[in-house]
Amino acid sequence: MAQQYKGWESFKAQPIESKLKYFNHPSSNRLFDIIFAQQFDKPFLQQLFDIANQIRKIAKSQHGSMFLQQLLADKRAMLFFVQPSTRTFMSFLNACHILGMKTSEIRDTATSSEVKGESPEDSIRTFSSYVDLIITRHPDEGFAQKASWVLNSYANRSIPIINGGSGKDQHPTQALLDIYTLSRAFSELGGIDNKRITMIGDLKRGRTVRSLCRLLALYHNVHINFVSPASYCMREDILKFLDQKGVSYHISESLDGCLEDTDAIYATRLQDEHNEKNESSPDLSNYNITAKHLDIIKPSCIIMHPFPRRNEIHTDVDQDPRAHYWKQARNGMWIRAALMLYLFEREHAVKEYVL
Ligand code: CP
Repeated sequence: MAQQYKGWESFKAQPIESKLKYFNHPSSNRLFDIIFAQQFDKPFLQQLFDIANQIRKIAKSQHGSMFLQQLLADKRAMLFFVQPSTRTFMSFLNACHILGMKTSEIRDTATSSEVKGESPEDSIRTFSSYVDLIITRHPDEGFAQKASWVLNSYANRSIPIINGGSGKDQHPTQALLDIYTLSRAFSELGGIDNKRITMIGDLKRGRTVRSLCRLLALYHNVHINFVSPASYCMREDILKFLDQKGVSYHISESLDGCLEDTDAIYATRLQDEHNEKNESSPDLSNYNITAKHLDIIKPSCIIMHPFPRRNEIHTDVDQDPRAHYWKQARNGMWIRAALMLYLFEREHAVKEYVL
């Protein structure tokens, strides 16, 4: 039987926008827990891009790498990843290493005391006894939020929680690396303002596209094409949010006519790990990006995918300079390093480093 926490259900029921401040540092009002993409505003994103750009420049030299490894050498991070992950796990782990942070990990509750009946909340409190930061990937929607709430409300040792993906709802740090990738790709093309983004695939259950929509809405005159079968369409909550923010979008069941004037293609895979019992998976091959599309997209268009991919982007696209998905994955390491430096309020050191 799940443990009961007085106050949790009423906190959970509040609209996200009304409780964002709860996840800020109580005295400095800086972000403390990273739970929702709604926590980020444009100045924060720009600040993080600047830190990430500086870290990657500093890391190019041996002297710079050694300097970076001192910055969080007194800190320890726990990676609690109990849902499969390659990129989020590896990029966080290596971002910790870049900054000199020691790490420990649990990747399967079958190897932790949860198998003996310990609750996930007690696990989180236990980790907080040993480390200074918890990064979590969990199959349950709302897990990171609850972990943060339990530590902030019940524990006398509250440490930051970073949501590395929760259920089919949110993946805020993926949104950070996606928007960072767009920002870098369009740095000579007027930035993200006025760009047309085409999102393709299982948009209903893809948490990366949901979180990215939240950040795209911060930019001026962005247009989004949502291309998917009707049964995998972007959910109403995001469409309503875009309506409220005045972001224009177009919903289509076919790629036809959507790619010619787009500035960025964002392909996603079928999220069939979220299938209902006995739900069969559709054939999405008509939504795949192949070499034939390279002839019709703009020379400046970039092609993204959060990965892992199956066949949504054929490998014969990989060598085209417009394929940005490998850069995108690497950008995740730099932006996550920048985020952790920010959370420990040590970003000034890289700003002051003379290259
Ligand atoms: N993009 C992403 O979250 O990849 P992983 O599932 O491999 O972490």
